[in-house]
Amino acid sequence: MRSPLLTRALFGVDVLPLEAGDRFFDSATLAMRHVLSRGRWKVQRVIEIGTGSSALVARWIVKTKGWRVAATELDSAVAQSARNTLRTFERDRIEVHEGHLFADVTGPVDLVLFNPPFVPTAIGTARGLSQDLRTQWDGGEDGTRVLREFFEAFANHGQATEALLAINVRHVPELLVEECLLPYPNLQLEDWYSAPWTPARVARVLRIA
Ligand SMILES: C[S@@+](CC[C@H](N)C(=O)[O-])C[C@H]1O[C@@H](n2cnc3c(N)ncnc32)[C@H](O)[C@@H]1O
Repeated sequence: MRSPLLTRALFGVDVLPLEAGDRFFDSATLAMRHVLSRGRWKVQRVIEIGTGSSALVARWIVKTKGWRVAATELDSAVAQSARNTLRTFERDRIEVHEGHLFADVTGPVDLVLFNPPFVPTAIGTARGLSQDLRTQWDGGEDGTRVLREFFEAFANHGQATEALLAINVRHVPELLVEECLLPYPNLQLEDWYSAPWTPARVARVLRIA
């Protein structure tokens, strides 16, 4: 979605103009917002992986929940845009770390959030999605490349034991997500949450001892 007005209405924050091909949020962002707004998580600090240029979910979390957010972002230009956004509108309680997945975030974290790129490469290319912004959408051959990288990292990562993953299940169906978890006996799929008006669902995954 590219509408600043709709973004303000849904997330309660102002945004800077977008680069060509970028967008403020997608169906999975809406699913994540829905699930977080209804859940009762006891959280002080979360990691939001892949925060995007407007750091929208991170800022909405700070406004509505008061949690601290360690936001990471792989794409340098996107990370810079997120920092510009925070410099313009808000500064408190959000750190931006440039890097892959958990990047260099240290310190305790209660929950991990990730709306990963999940569009299969051939589908995104056929739809004309931005080649310059491939990290936003390109999930590899079957849409699961980054998801699989995430599970590998999360299975071995000490900082948090709970993750919420927002995924458009028209691109990556639930069974395929569950198949990606099979190599990791210490990761357990607890729930699939649905949200109205969106084909995205949120998987709750726990790392058990
Ligand atoms: C689908 S967008 C989600 C953006 C925003 N969090 C939201 O929910 O609308 C995915 C974001 O993750 C970033 N990303 C992709 N792969 C990543 C990785 N391995 N580590 C960190 N960020 C990544 C992309 O650059 C992009 O900003």
